[in-house]
Amino acid sequence: MAISVLSNKNGPLISKYIYGQFAEHLGRCIYEGVWVGEDSDIPNDKGIRLDVAEALKAINVPVIRWPGGCFADEYHWKDGVGPREDRKTIVNTHWGGVVENNHFGTHEYFHLLELVGADAYVNGNVGSGTVQEMQEWVEYITFDGQSPMANWRKENGSDKGWDMKFFGVGNESWGCGGNMRPEYYADLYRRYQTYVRNYTDKPVYKIACGPNIDDYNWMEQVMKIAGPFMDGISLHHYALADVWENKRPATGFPEEEWFSLLDSAKKMDELITKHSTIMDKYDPEKRVGLIVDEWGSWLAVEPGTNSGFLYQQNTIRDAMVASLTLNIFHRHADRVRMANIAQMINVLQAMLLTEGEKMIKTPTYHVFDLYKYHQDAELIDTYGEPEEHTDFTVSKKDGTMAISAVNYDVNESKVLTFELSDFNISIVKGRILTGKEMDSHNSFESPEEVKVIEFNNYTTENNKISLTLPPMSVATVLLEG
Ligand code: AHR
Repeated sequence: MAISVLSNKNGPLISKYIYGQFAEHLGRCIYEGVWVGEDSDIPNDKGIRLDVAEALKAINVPVIRWPGGCFADEYHWKDGVGPREDRKTIVNTHWGGVVENNHFGTHEYFHLLELVGADAYVNGNVGSGTVQEMQEWVEYITFDGQSPMANWRKENGSDKGWDMKFFGVGNESWGCGGNMRPEYYADLYRRYQTYVRNYTDKPVYKIACGPNIDDYNWMEQVMKIAGPFMDGISLHHYALADVWENKRPATGFPEEEWFSLLDSAKKMDELITKHSTIMDKYDPEKRVGLIVDEWGSWLAVEPGTNSGFLYQQNTIRDAMVASLTLNIFHRHADRVRMANIAQMINVLQAMLLTEGEKMIKTPTYHVFDLYKYHQDAELIDTYGEPEEHTDFTVSKKDGTMAISAVNYDVNESKVLTFELSDFNISIVKGRILTGKEMDSHNSFESPEEVKVIEFNNYTTENNKISLTLPPMSVATVLLEG
């Protein structure tokens, strides 16, 4: 049956920030993945890899969350500014007990953002940091006048303050960020956020630590006690291939794990629905955004790698996870204002993998590329059930209609027909990503095993388009009227 697309019935705006990234001081995400240092043979701009910055810019990365994750609640930002040779060397206790030399700090982060063209989402330390430390960081980053922190920043080479769009007050405060109870965190949030001052006319968007997965009580208590003091509240949910939470291999998995991982990813819909219902009680106008600042597949580390580094391969199955999850975020665009996939490079469901000077784009990267047209587009209302094992998004921006559709069946092709009201299709441009095997992936030896190619397998008739999607594929078609 055709899916009816109500071309003129626009839903909410799909915030571009749903396409956000998360980069933590974890494994080889920041060090090696982003930062190679100015003396490296790898082409870099003030220490930041150029191949990586360019690849991220090409998919319009809108925001990068940093420095953690669990690392954020152990991070003392003053260790990471000033001459690099004088910066403190510390131990990254959370992630492999490795040396952290603090060479990538606040200035380097803002330089990365500049190269990529992304906005800042800085996550502050509530677990082991003081209110003063947090207040001073905000002053250091944003204040342009005369003050101890602004003057120190100038001495360290940045005359102008930076725009800091988003600020997180603690991370996973129910776990690695301090093992707090929701009532205690909510009070602490109220106190810490007071000192996240606005030093410019662009107010900082303050994000409270929200629940882990289905901890509805956390959402209830924090919204009740601290709702009026926040702009957003976070949610974390990772897709796992095993209900017992054993980490399963990223490649060479059986068919049942194809579906168990995708089912776990699809749980995001129920989580957002239920958390939003609680938020509606305290915030019926939907002023507060739900910020899914950690999501993605969490699989077993690659054999022979440090288990604290969370380095996993990324296959066409992960591309399905990305596509299904982005579709869910789109459908909840009235509440979900930002999401940050974990993590940007070399960690968990990464966009990019690096090895020395080599860099490869993962199937997940390609989904973000195929889906970039939905950034800041209007969600278009549709009705009708899609075929089994398929899903889609339709959005419109500047008169162009973008349809992204996924077929996650492992054996069968699927035909998806869309019938557009008041829209006669004249020009169609399509691109598709598909894999031959369930675990098709790119490697440093074969970097283009899974790549985006032109998509022509469609038919059109006036206002109707039928897409024939091979198994394990995701495509985007752009339609001009
Ligand atoms: O993304 C890896 C870790 O997962 C983050 O540091 C933490 O916030 C979460 O538990």
